[in-house]
Formats: sequence, C-alpha cells, structure tokens
Amino acid sequence: MTRSRVLVTGGAGYIGSETVRLLLEEGHEVVVFDDLSTGHRKAVPEAASFIRGRISDTPLMIEALAGVDAVFHFAANIEVAESVTDPKPFWWNNFVGTLTLLDAMVKAEVFQLVFSSTAAVYGNPPSDLVTEKMPLQPVNPYGESKLSAETLIADYCTAYGLCATSLRYFNAAGAAVGGKHGADHAHKTHLVTLCLEAAARRLPCLTIFGTDYPTPDGTCVRDYIHVADLARAHLAALSAFERGVQGSFNLGNGKGHSVREVVECVQKVTGVDFPVKEVARRPGDPAYLVASSGKALDLLGWKPCFPSLEQIVHDAWEWVRTHPKGYGSDI
Ligand code: UFG
Repeated sequence: MTRSRVLVTGGAGYIGSETVRLLLEEGHEVVVFDDLSTGHRKAVPEAASFIRGRISDTPLMIEALAGVDAVFHFAANIEVAESVTDPKPFWWNNFVGTLTLLDAMVKAEVFQLVFSSTAAVYGNPPSDLVTEKMPLQPVNPYGESKLSAETLIADYCTAYGLCATSLRYFNAAGAAVGGKHGADHAHKTHLVTLCLEAAARRLPCLTIFGTDYPTPDGTCVRDYIHVADLARAHLAALSAFERGVQGSFNLGNGKGHSVREVVECVQKVTGVDFPVKEVARRPGDPAYLVASSGKALDLLGWKPCFPSLEQIVHDAWEWVRTHPKGYGSDI
C-alpha cells in the first residue's frame, strides 16, 4: 500500500486510537484531531501528531489538513439511549460536524474519507443476516444522524469528487490484542464492558434486559466484532481506494451470540461467577442483529482475524484487569 498521511478525527477514542496504532505500524503518518471530550491523550501514541480541537473549527481543521491524503472520521456521539433523550449533540456533532469536515476537506483538496458508521442505520432489519441492500430505517436519533451523514457524504462524492467509504460497525468489543489499550468510557453501557465490570467486582451484578425475545434463549443476539478487526478494515478501505473501490460495508463476524452466551463466556474467561439479574426489555433493542460481511470480504479483501468471542473477551479482560482506572491507571 502507498504510504499516506492520514488525519484521524476521534483518534484518541476507543476504535480511533486502535486504528492510529495500526496506521503507524504499517508505516503511515498520522495526525490525530480530537477535542478530548471522551477520548484520552494517553491513548494517542507519541509517533502521531496531535491537535486538540473540534471538527467544527474550520480554520483549525483546514490547517490540520495541509499535506493530508485521507481522513478517517471517528469523532461522534455514540450512545443510543442518550440520543433519544438528548438528540441535539448527536445532530450537531454527527451530522453538522461531518458537514463542516467535508467542507474543510474540499477546501483543503483532501478527497479520501473513511467514515465510521453503524448497524444502527438498519433499525429493525427484516432478516436475521443483514446485508447492505436492506432498508435503511433507523429507530433512534443516533442511527438517523449517522445515516444522514452517509447521505451527505454520498452527495459530496457525486458533486465534488470525493472518494468515500462508510464502515457500518456491528457490536465493537475487545481491546488491543494483549490488553495494553482498550475502551475507557466515563459512562459504560455496552454488554461486554459491563460484564467485565461485574467480573472485576466493580458492579454488584450484570442486568439482563429482556428474556422474552423470539431468540433461542430469549435474550437478544448480537454480532460482536474485535476492535483490532475494525481497525484493519479502515486500512483495507484506504488501500481499496487505489482500486477505485468505495461504498458502504457491514463489519461483523457473521455469527450471533445471545446476552446469556456473552455472560457465560465472560464468566468462563475471567473465572468469576458474578451474579446476574433479569429485568424487562430495554426500549429500542432489536432481537437479532448479525452482519453479512460478504461485501467487505469481496471488495475490500477484509476478513476478521479474531472472530472468537473468547478472544474478544480475553483481550478486553486483560485491559480491564491491568487498568482498573482505564487511562487514569499507570501505563
Ligand atoms: N444488554 C444487557 N445488559 C446490559 C447491557 C446490554 O442485557 O447491561 C443487552 C442489550 O439489551 C442488548 C445487548 O446486550 O440486547 C447488546 O447491547 P449493547 O448496549 O452492548 O449494544 P447495542 O447492540 O445496543 O448497540 C451497539 C452500539 C451501537 C450500535 C449497535 C449496532 O452501542 O452504537 O451496537 O449493533 F449501533
């Protein structure tokens, strides 16, 4: 692959920083652009340049884009439930923020973009295995804001010569292989993270939201994908631009795990039999969401290297076990 200079928005965050490390390993130059509202300066390797700023700060962004070949755009608000109660920052950051970034890119003549999208653009898909051809019907403002950003990007591709790929992540999980880096969110909502908190005895129990879904064991099924595999997909998307490949791609393992299976897996990997409480459904959860990633395989040449849930949980546990205070711990 050609050596590129890549600007990474949200490069101090969970998936962004994992991608920054991989870009550097592969010999690319990296500029991280992050306002540190949720990211961590310590997650950014020394070898990357770092600019603290908001993506809506157009003069700063245009300056940062000097000499840049491609942008990886991770910076976003991501919590589904919060998007329902307080949609404003989701529209400002995920939609307007993307618009201002695109304008800055066009002004700075940077024409390659890899965008972090989400399975939430599908809402409640009509089939178990989700392909990119399925209807795009988000059921929450988070998914709406990401889908609107995808539409905006497609229009900029048609009109202004941008090349762009949107990567629709299913359930991102795990940590850097070996556990040196990982997720450090002030507000923890994701299943694997909360199971590990329970295993570390920092939560009294894990709460299962709903046991009456039309799934084999009554709990929701999701496709958990290793953060290192998500990072690799971004580099695959970048090199695919050289072959004229762009578009929207699902990223998952194509294998579903129920909430109960995740709980059992975390208990097995950690050796901690933490207590579990069953409560009513959480509003807005689809019963079954599993990716067909055939398009990414065919066109990007991307295939997950760490598809096993055990490996995903193992790496996340290494991070949680050795960094009880996240990036606030000594690393
Ligand atoms: N769950 C529990 N207990 C918990 C936390 C979660 O039972 O304490 C359940 C949820 O109800 C759901 C499943 O575990 O059935 C997974 O929930 P997560 O919160 O880990 O993830 P989601 O599937 O809700 O959402 C994630 C991302 C979204 C993205 C979506 C796409 O947070 O940004 O995956 O699949 F859009």
